[in-house]
Amino acid sequence: MYTRVLPPSEGTLRQAAEYIRSGELVAFPTETVYGLGANALDGNAVLRIFEAKGRPGDNPLIAHIATIDQLDDLILAEPSPAAKVMMEAFWPGPLTMIFPKSAYVPSEVTAGLDTIAVRMPSHPVARRLIELAGVPIAAPSANRSGRPSPTAAQHVLEDMDGRIPLIIDGGACAVGLESTVADMTGEVPRVLRPGGVTAEQIAAVAGSCAVDDSVMRPLKAGEKPRSPGMKYRHYAPKGELTLFGGSASRVCCAICERYDAALAQGARPLILAMEANIPAYGKRRVVSLGDGEEEMARRIFALLRDADALNADVLFSEAVEASGLGLAIMNRLGRAAAFHIVNVDEGGDEA
Ligand code: TXA
Ligand code: MG
Repeated sequence: MYTRVLPPSEGTLRQAAEYIRSGELVAFPTETVYGLGANALDGNAVLRIFEAKGRPGDNPLIAHIATIDQLDDLILAEPSPAAKVMMEAFWPGPLTMIFPKSAYVPSEVTAGLDTIAVRMPSHPVARRLIELAGVPIAAPSANRSGRPSPTAAQHVLEDMDGRIPLIIDGGACAVGLESTVADMTGEVPRVLRPGGVTAEQIAAVAGSCAVDDSVMRPLKAGEKPRSPGMKYRHYAPKGELTLFGGSASRVCCAICERYDAALAQGARPLILAMEANIPAYGKRRVVSLGDGEEEMARRIFALLRDADALNADVLFSEAVEASGLGLAIMNRLGRAAAFHIVNVDEGGDEA
């Protein structure tokens, strides 16, 4: 199959909507990452997503909607008051909510679960595509399973060339990390995957918000996470990655020490540092995490994609504080580092 990459003209979006209605797959931009979409009400179309991604069959998908009335077909009961205020505050945007599912939703979408994840994206191209298709669109991130999520059309092409007919190129994604996934089936909203909408922001509108403790640690052997996707290993660079948190000057010293030791042993080390800290590393090999957490969020998946080409066998990265958007960054970086995190203020013990 030939994969076309086209800009989001109205003609292209109509063609894409036609693909979706006829059971084909289309990759499209959202404000978080690129999605690989199919008609969420067509079980056979949804199965093609799992095939194209090489995705394990027990990992459920998110249904994307453009208008609130599209929720009716997807969920079983009226959303809770907390869910309603969260929709008001954060939709359209980078928040996915989990509800008990209606009988209309094919079990392929939810991987057999009796709950469904729903998100209303804010990206105008995603919204127009859903509107033209006239159905909710089931879409995981448009990467091959195990690879970092794509934040540019080029990343989608790297992973999906020959597997899908069309990639809509909407440029770089504004958030750069996948949406926050919040389970709304319990008493309080519970963040299963941190993202662009922070737990602090959710608590501010919903009264409270729990963060699942699986977010910042590796899963134990045989553990069954609430969000099935959390059990799969996310793409880690071939080189061993270690994160360093704590006061900035000590982090810099600790990284320099480890870098120099690696070099002395004949290894090829690489440092990932915030733009402002780069001069402090002198002549050592450094790539920039950008200027501030928002830019770091936008860059991190592209950096992880490129890491192998940079030919490093040990990587040392500055960490950020695991709160606000930093929690989402540390969840993704932490998993890429197998949660190998050194706190330089606590005597440098590795967790
Ligand atoms: O930003 C995003 O969320 C992107 C864009 C395309 O919208 N999509 C995305 O989808 O990241 P995906 O499939 O890569 O991640 C969805 C996550 C997975 O970890 C999955 O296990 C979880 O949401 N999930 C989906 N349905 C669920 C459910 N019913 N219960 C618990 N977790 C669920
Ligand atoms: Mg994904």
